[in-house]
Amino acid sequence: MSDYHITSFDDYKKVYTKSISNPESFWETLAEENFLWRKKWNKVVSWDFSKPEIKWFEGAQLNITENCLDRHLEQRGNKTALIFEPNNPDEPAKHISYRELHEQVCRFANVLKSRGIKKGDRVCIYVPMIPELAVSVLACARIGAVHSVVFAGFSANALAMRINDCDCSMVITCDGSFRGNKTIDLKGIVDEALQNCPGVTSVLVAKRINSDIKLKEGRDEWLQPLLDKAAPVCPAETMEAEDPLFILYTSGSTGKPKGMVHTTAGYMVYTAYTFKNVFQYSENDVYWCTADIGWITGHSYIVYGPLANGATTVLFEGVPSYPDFSRFWQIVAKHKVNQFYTAPTAIRALAKQGVAFVEGHDVSSLKVLGTVGEPINDEAWHWYDETVGKKKCPIVDTWWQTETGGIMITSLPGIIPSKPTFATLAFPGIQACLVNEEGEEIKGNNVDGRLCIKFPWPGMARTIWGDHQRFKDTYFTAFNDKYFTGDGALRDAIGNYRITGRVDDVIIVSGHNLGTAPIEDAINEHLNVAESAIVAFPHDIKGNALYGFVTLKESAEIEDFEAIRGEINQLISKQIGAIAKLDKIQFTSELPKTRSGKIMRRILRKIACGETENLGDTSTLLNPEVVEEIIQQRL
Ligand code: PRX
Repeated sequence: MSDYHITSFDDYKKVYTKSISNPESFWETLAEENFLWRKKWNKVVSWDFSKPEIKWFEGAQLNITENCLDRHLEQRGNKTALIFEPNNPDEPAKHISYRELHEQVCRFANVLKSRGIKKGDRVCIYVPMIPELAVSVLACARIGAVHSVVFAGFSANALAMRINDCDCSMVITCDGSFRGNKTIDLKGIVDEALQNCPGVTSVLVAKRINSDIKLKEGRDEWLQPLLDKAAPVCPAETMEAEDPLFILYTSGSTGKPKGMVHTTAGYMVYTAYTFKNVFQYSENDVYWCTADIGWITGHSYIVYGPLANGATTVLFEGVPSYPDFSRFWQIVAKHKVNQFYTAPTAIRALAKQGVAFVEGHDVSSLKVLGTVGEPINDEAWHWYDETVGKKKCPIVDTWWQTETGGIMITSLPGIIPSKPTFATLAFPGIQACLVNEEGEEIKGNNVDGRLCIKFPWPGMARTIWGDHQRFKDTYFTAFNDKYFTGDGALRDAIGNYRITGRVDDVIIVSGHNLGTAPIEDAINEHLNVAESAIVAFPHDIKGNALYGFVTLKESAEIEDFEAIRGEINQLISKQIGAIAKLDKIQFTSELPKTRSGKIMRRILRKIACGETENLGDTSTLLNPEVVEEIIQQRL
């Protein structure tokens, strides 16, 4: 074996021990032997969590696209890098080889340069799951521009906030997108957003749905004619190891979304290494991750991790339910997918439809199944194992975060045994631990606590764009000298971790992180709303759904409460996106508050979940009488 490819449980134990006892030499060897560098580093890692300052491979120079593309050309030039599977099953799939992808990235990079984009500039990418999305990401990396991909389901306001926060001067977008039987007017959303983004001077528009859109003179251009004219070769910019590669926004428990900054060398090494081992990828495998590149899962495990390993990676434009619930399995059969990586919410939605949609499709190519994004419940785990994997495919339940860049706690197929609902063991290099509320480490097994990481790893985010203090306060202040994940976890009798969920005000709905504060802000914009509080309640497909308790202004004269519910959800869709809509909205005369005026969310959470008997201590409430009213009127 090499440390790069772990093939047995004994290997894992040896590699893990090495990675902890001597992290510097461990990562140094991995980096040296498996990647292309223009210049070697002076120091493998330097770190100080109190600042926090984290540097990996300082002094090294490289370009990540040379590692993802150029170095494969000789051996794998004709190998398929990307398989594009369109939304409409009648439209032929596209196979893009490493050589073609390299050329497309170079052309795109030259277009970016011709429009004045240079190293360090931020470029916003608001493109659906079509090849141009992957190509534009890589084109930015080619010339050292920092990409900020915004999921193409976010609203105009959410897009504008992200464009302005990191001062993007360019937006790459599309005339529109196909999603199931719908088309979405993406360019219209961009136009609306850009009314509030004075810094954007250039918009490149890919053509996908052939809709009749308007280009704004002097700002907007069709992408394809520019690509056709551009030179097919573009030298890769020399990047320092710690130069930013991208910014990706994630919700926080308060305030605006956080622009997590990932840098070049450490992120590359970590995503490539985790990809290879977590999916046990072999040269001729076809790998498919169903996430969107607009989320970290797509960045790390559709684009960078697979391509750095010379893999074939599927990019799917559509949704699991179109034209019917067998679409995933049709695609698995069609492309003979070997590794399949999806979210528990998708598994639950498919399981609900029964086994018939899986049966009749040849899924025998599958070797490894993965899940990510939220805890997977026992029932969904077994359905995945039995109906999809036919009990022959190990399931890797991978725990990680936008902030961690890559997979942190996971089983390894055929190597670290799976245990339903458990992410299991820490990946090499990851020093996971549990701490109590005082920040003391809880040793031993059969314990639970807050999940922290004690030592840096190469893939971790380095800061929040424009707000380093917030980075420190959110992740490094609660528990001295440790990275705090925001998750609770337990460790079983033999050391396996099970993630129990967020311990802050972030709610995960269908695998998407949502902060309660921005949703409440959106609701409070309604003219008749005095205040609101959002909590989670269990949902059989989405994992969690949102329950809003809303107090209307005394002056409000309401006849149609349903209409207000609709208006509130419209406001949320406009400010954030449809993913943040509330399933239930209960109007209350007041919200339960402490004497200091803080909303007692703990009580609302219990009521929303139907636990109305043991509400815990309510003696500190200013208005205990309102609790009974809320229970009576619970939806
Ligand atoms: O609560 C954990 C949950 O998702 C959060 C991170 O969300 P995000 O940054 O959007 O990244 C999602 C994709 C990596 C975590 O703090 N989470 C993620 N994976 C799992 C999980 N919860 C339980 N089990 C998992 N496998």
